Amino acid sequence: MSILSAISNKITSVPVFWRRFIITGLSALPALYILQLVVRIQTGERDLLGPEPGKALVWLTGTWAFNFLLIALVVTPLYRLLNQRWVLVHRRMLGLWAFLYTSLHALAYATFLLQWQWADITSEIVKRPYLLLGTGAWTILLALALTSTRWAQKSLGKRWKALHKLVYFAALLASVHYLLQIRAGWFEPVLYTVLTILVLLVRNRRFEGFWKKSDKI
Ligand code: HEM
Repeated sequence: MSILSAISNKITSVPVFWRRFIITGLSALPALYILQLVVRIQTGERDLLGPEPGKALVWLTGTWAFNFLLIALVVTPLYRLLNQRWVLVHRRMLGLWAFLYTSLHALAYATFLLQWQWADITSEIVKRPYLLLGTGAWTILLALALTSTRWAQKSLGKRWKALHKLVYFAALLASVHYLLQIRAGWFEPVLYTVLTILVLLVRNRRFEGFWKKSDKI
């Protein structure tokens, strides 16, 4: 705990502009990596991601969408643990990155698997019912992104908190979306689901006594 506090104090001494700059740079790295893969595949390196590059891109973006969703969810418990406001300053930005990666994932699906043939969407949903759950999670993240401004927070008042609690539901929908795709490899979907449940439990104030000693906040 003292090591955590020491690291946290060091981070506090970095100006908020630079912290935002570093977080933006690090968060953009996976997107840039995926972008260069797309460019290389389009310019002839067809086998770069195996026999089904479109599917591989959907998987890659889906995994990063989930990573950022978990990172954004962990901010609040980290704030409660460290009792340092600098952590909260970056919550909105990380949530927006989660939304961005989910949108890239949906875009990869629409481009490489659906090929923008919206007439096929009904048969697609029958073939892949987990699409509905993914879309549900994306719709919630869209609503949260649109209302993430200070202005929306002020004008919605108490309803803002209630609305933003829907992020728990989005995380559960994303887990089931992933679990329903278990074919051969069960490890990753189960791991992400366990991590989601753990993060949601840690965020719940009723379970705080298990992991947090002091009750300053
Ligand atoms: C918060 C929202 C979402 C999250 C966190 C998420 C996450 C994931 C993850 C982790 C995978 C599996 C990756 C792998 O196997 O390595 C996946 C697969 C997939 N997702 Fe999502 N997803 C979300 C929303 C969506 C949406 C909105 C769509 C489309 C409209 C979508 C379409 C798909 C498809 C088609 C696959 C599987 C491709 C295949 O194996 O055939 N997802 N998603």
